[in-house]
Amino acid sequence: MAQPFEDRIDYYCDRVAMKLDVALPASTERPERLHDAMRYAVFAGGKRVRPLLVYATGECLQADPALLDAPAASIELIHTFSLVHDDLPAMDDDDLRRGKPTVHRAYDEATAILAADALQPLAFSVLADIPSVAGSKRAALVRLLADACGSIGMTGGQSIDLAAEGKELSAEELEHMYALKTGALIHAAVMSACLLGDEVPEEEAVALDAFSRAVGVAFQIRDDLLDVEGQTEVIGKPAGSDVALSKATYPALIGIDESRARCTELLEACVAELDVFGERAEPLRWLARYIVERGN
Ligand code: IPE
Ligand code: IPE
Ligand code: MG
Ligand code: MG
Ligand code: MG
Repeated sequence: MAQPFEDRIDYYCDRVAMKLDVALPASTERPERLHDAMRYAVFAGGKRVRPLLVYATGECLQADPALLDAPAASIELIHTFSLVHDDLPAMDDDDLRRGKPTVHRAYDEATAILAADALQPLAFSVLADIPSVAGSKRAALVRLLADACGSIGMTGGQSIDLAAEGKELSAEELEHMYALKTGALIHAAVMSACLLGDEVPEEEAVALDAFSRAVGVAFQIRDDLLDVEGQTEVIGKPAGSDVALSKATYPALIGIDESRARCTELLEACVAELDVFGERAEPLRWLARYIVERGN
């Protein structure tokens, strides 16, 4: 029986940390404060769920992990940039992230804006440099991440999130917002490994697409539940932030029990998509369960 994916989490986290360390300029390189803030944001902790999804999908497709370090790191860079902006006073105005003061608190607001601004293009530079991959595949990876990050992806979702403060969205509108602000990067994580897989059959690509879309929405519902039920010291960011800002969330719209039920429904739906892979998809099944059951 194969080793559970859980046993390889540290190994994969180390791989992506090494790639991130190489990609990020040293704190001693000018402008030192900007580089220091970028490193502070990236290495503040974080579960590295998106890189783990890249590697787990790679296992499912028997892809070489060495090929996956670049997409894993680039998606974590985009994700971290999104968190730095998300915490700014103009957005969620939060003081704690990954158990530490947010970048605008530890440095200053302008530095936080610029650090996030610089993390974003760095992600694309990492993808452009990916070794031993054909130019056409590199271009496709850049396109995948650009779409996931832009106005039809994460940034668009963040815009909807802010516009919805104090308003009630329908369940359909909420899930659309979740799919964009959170789901888009999770989808890109899975599909970037799929893109790098060797002649992935169409039915497997379709299954991964559906899996990642469902798990992305479940991820944000769990995040919203943790905001209500979690403790600041455990989740590493201020609990109750959504209620304080009158955010449109599932817990606010349908309550805790119904939100949990929707999360479980999405878990079952996404796991069902993986049948085509048999045992090979165990890592993705494990991660999907972790995403909806996690405590931080
Ligand atoms: C938090 O993401 C922001 C959302 C999209 C919900 P994570 O819960 O993955 O945050 P880190 O990376 O572990 O800090
Ligand atoms: C943010 O959603 C999603 C992002 C794109 C960063 P939240 O605002 O709920 O994320 P947290 O709870 O601050 O991590
Ligand atoms: Mg937010
Ligand atoms: Mg937030
Ligand atoms: Mg949240």
